[in-house]
Amino acid sequence: MQALNALFRPEGVAVVGASKKREKLGNVILRNMIKSGYGGNVYPINPKESEIEGLKVYPAVSGIGQRVEMAVVVVPAEKVLEVARDCGTAGVKSLVVISAGFKETGPEGMAREKELVGICHAHGMRLLGPNSVGLMDTHTPLNASFAAGFPLKGQIAFVSQSGAMLVAILDWSLKIGIGFSRFVSMGNKADLNEADFIADAAEDPNTRVILCYIEDVKEGAHFLEAAEKATRRKPVIILKSGTSQAGAKAASSHTGALAGSDLAYEMAFKQSGVLRVRRMSELFDLAVVFARQPVPRGPRVAIITNSGGPGIVATDRVEVERLEMARLSRKTVETLRPKLPLEASVYNPVDVLGDAGVERFSFALESVMADESVDSAVVLLCPTAVAEPVETAEAIVKAKARYPEKPVLGVYMGGESLASGADYLVEHGIPCFTFPELAVRALGGLTAYSRIRERPPKEELPRYRDVDPAAVKRVFEQVRAERRRILLGSESMEVASAYGIPAAPMLLARRAREAVAHAAELGYPVVLKVASPEIIHKTDIGGVKIGLKTAEEVREEFWEMMERVHSHFPRAAVYGIEVQKMYPKGTELIVGMTRDLQFGPLIAFGLGGIYVNLLRDTAFRLVWGMGRREIQAMIEETKAYTLLRGFRGEKPLDIPAVVEIIGRIGKLVSDFPEIVEMDINPVFAYREGARALDVKITIE
Ligand code: COA
Repeated sequence: MQALNALFRPEGVAVVGASKKREKLGNVILRNMIKSGYGGNVYPINPKESEIEGLKVYPAVSGIGQRVEMAVVVVPAEKVLEVARDCGTAGVKSLVVISAGFKETGPEGMAREKELVGICHAHGMRLLGPNSVGLMDTHTPLNASFAAGFPLKGQIAFVSQSGAMLVAILDWSLKIGIGFSRFVSMGNKADLNEADFIADAAEDPNTRVILCYIEDVKEGAHFLEAAEKATRRKPVIILKSGTSQAGAKAASSHTGALAGSDLAYEMAFKQSGVLRVRRMSELFDLAVVFARQPVPRGPRVAIITNSGGPGIVATDRVEVERLEMARLSRKTVETLRPKLPLEASVYNPVDVLGDAGVERFSFALESVMADESVDSAVVLLCPTAVAEPVETAEAIVKAKARYPEKPVLGVYMGGESLASGADYLVEHGIPCFTFPELAVRALGGLTAYSRIRERPPKEELPRYRDVDPAAVKRVFEQVRAERRRILLGSESMEVASAYGIPAAPMLLARRAREAVAHAAELGYPVVLKVASPEIIHKTDIGGVKIGLKTAEEVREEFWEMMERVHSHFPRAAVYGIEVQKMYPKGTELIVGMTRDLQFGPLIAFGLGGIYVNLLRDTAFRLVWGMGRREIQAMIEETKAYTLLRGFRGEKPLDIPAVVEIIGRIGKLVSDFPEIVEMDINPVFAYREGARALDVKITIE
C-alpha cells in the first residue's frame, strides 16, 4: 500500500472553511471537489451555514460521525490550529492546509507552523502545506485545490514548491493536451516534502514520469534515498531555482558550511539519478517527450532534413547532449542511394534536399528507422515551396508506429505555413519543436535516462575495520581543550594515520633539542614546518624548510625559523616546529572535503601543485553513495587521471592507492560529523603507493 493513500485516495473529504460565497477559496475548493468526480463523501464545514452547493454542512469535522480521511483547511491562519486539533480528534489522517500566514510571514507565523506540525504528529496526521494551492489526482479522481481547471488524465506527476508554477503548468498542459496523474503544491513543506512525494509517486501505478519544481531540499538524506530508489523505476526531472551565488552565500553566512550549495545539489541530483534541468522551458519539453516517447535503447541518433544548415546545427548539439550520430549501415546507405537525388546526402544527417516532398522524407525515414544502428530519429522540415508539412507529418506518424521502441521527434522550423503539420504531429504523440537544438536537447534528456535506469546498484564505502576512532577522539578532545578549531599538522597527521591514510609522519617539537631527537627518530632527511594554525601560507614567510640532513642543520634551522616567523607575525600563537620525514616527490594531487548542511560531506579531488588554480581540475562527489567505483569515476573525470594512468608512455601510477585514501577520508568524515573541513594538499602519487604530505583538519 502506498504511504500517502490518505492524501491521494482518501475515504471521505472535509472542506473546512467552505463558504456559500462563490468568490471565496472555501467555495472554489468545495466546487472543485464536487466537479472532479470524486467518488467518496464530501463534507463542507462551516459554523453558520446548513447547506452549501447542495451538500449538508457540519459545524466541525468532529461532528460528522462518518469516516473522514482528509481535511482541506481554508480558514484564516489564526483558526487553523484549533481546526487541526478537531481534525486530529476526529481521526483525520491527512491535513491539507491552504491558509497562508505561517513560516513565510515571520517569527509569529513560524511558531504557529511549528505548533501545527506538533498537533499533526501528536494525532498521527500527515500535513500538506501550509500555504499550499492543494493537490489533484486525475485517477482517483480528486481536486482538493483552488486551481482553475483540472488536468487531463495522464501519467506525469508534478510536485511543486511554488503554487504559481503549478497553476501555470496546469494551464499550459490543458492548452497542448498533455495529461497528468497528479499535481501537488507543497507550500511551506512543514511536514511532507519533495522526498515523500517522489517516493509515493514512484510507487504510484498511474505515474510514469515525476516532475518537480523546488527551491530547496528539506531533508537531504531522505531526499537522496527516495530519489535513488525512484529513478531506478521512472524518470525524476527537477528544476531547482535559487542557484545564484548570492542565495548560496546568504544560506551559509553564519555556519561557515556550504549550506545547500549548488555544487552539493548538483552532486545530489547526479548521484541519485535525477535529471536536472536549468530552465522552465526544458522542464516543459522533457515532460512532453517523456510522456509521449519511449526511452531509447542507446545514444545513436539519425537526423533527416530537407536543409543543410539546420542539419548541422542539430548535429553539433548531438555531441553536447552526450548523444552520438548513428553510423548508418551499408544496407541503409545502399537502399537510400538510388532513390534519392545525386546531390542528397545518404549519410547521417540524411539530407533529402530542399525540393523534397513527402515521398523522399517518408522513404528516408522508413529506411533509417529500420536500421539496427539507429536508436532514435529527429526529422527537420524547413518551409520550402514544395514542402508538404501535413503529409510529411502523416508519414512520420506512420513510420513511428512501426518502431514503437525508437523515439522520433519533429522539428518544424517555421510559422504559419507549418502549423497544421506541427499540430498533426503533436496530436499524434510526436513532440514537435521549432528549433533543432531544443529537439536534440530533449532527446538528450530522454537518452540520459536510459543510462540512469541501467546504472549499477548504489554503493557504500568499504567498512575499513582497521580504523581507530578512539585515537581520533583523543586528538579532538585535546584540540577542544585548547579552544582551537584547526588542528596542528602533527595532530591532523595522527588523525589521518588512525584511519589508515598513509600520512607522512610528523612530530611537534617545542625546543630545538626535541626537534633533533624527532629527526633522529624519523630518519634523515627531514622537513621543518612552523606549527601555527594562524599562519596559512607558511612557505611565503620562510615557515617551511625541506631537505635538512643533519642534527646540526635541524638545530640551526629551528632557531632561524622561529625568528623569521616571529618577525612576520609577532602576535601569532606558535606551538613550536613540526618535524616531518621527507619523501620523494610524486605526482601532486589534492583531496578536500567540505560539509554541506543538507547533503553531508562533499569530496573534491584534483590535480595539485602550482597549476591548481590555472587548470581548475577538480571533480566532486558526496560521500553518500560513494564507494570504490564512484571514487574511480570521480578520478576519471579529471585531467589528473591522464597523468595517473601513464601520460605519453610513462608507467601508470598507483590509482588504487589514491582510491583507498579517498575512501578512508570518506569513512573518517562520516564517522566524525564534527569535521567541517579537511584538506590534503598535496597527496603524492607514486608507481607504488601514495602519501599524504600535508593534512589540514578543521572541527566544529
Ligand atoms: N471552521 C469552519 N469554518 C470556519 C471556521 C472554522 N473554525 N472559522 C471560520 N470559518 C468559515 C468562515 O465563517 C468563512 O465562511 P463564510 O464565508 O460563510 O463566512 C470561511 O470559513 C472562510 O473564512 P474567512 O474568515 O471568510 O476567510 P477567507 O475566505 O477570507 O480567507 C483563506 C481564508 C484561508 C483563504 C486566507 O486566510 C488565506 O490564507 N489566503 C491565502 C491562501 C493562499 O494563497 N495559499 C497559498 C497559495 S500558494
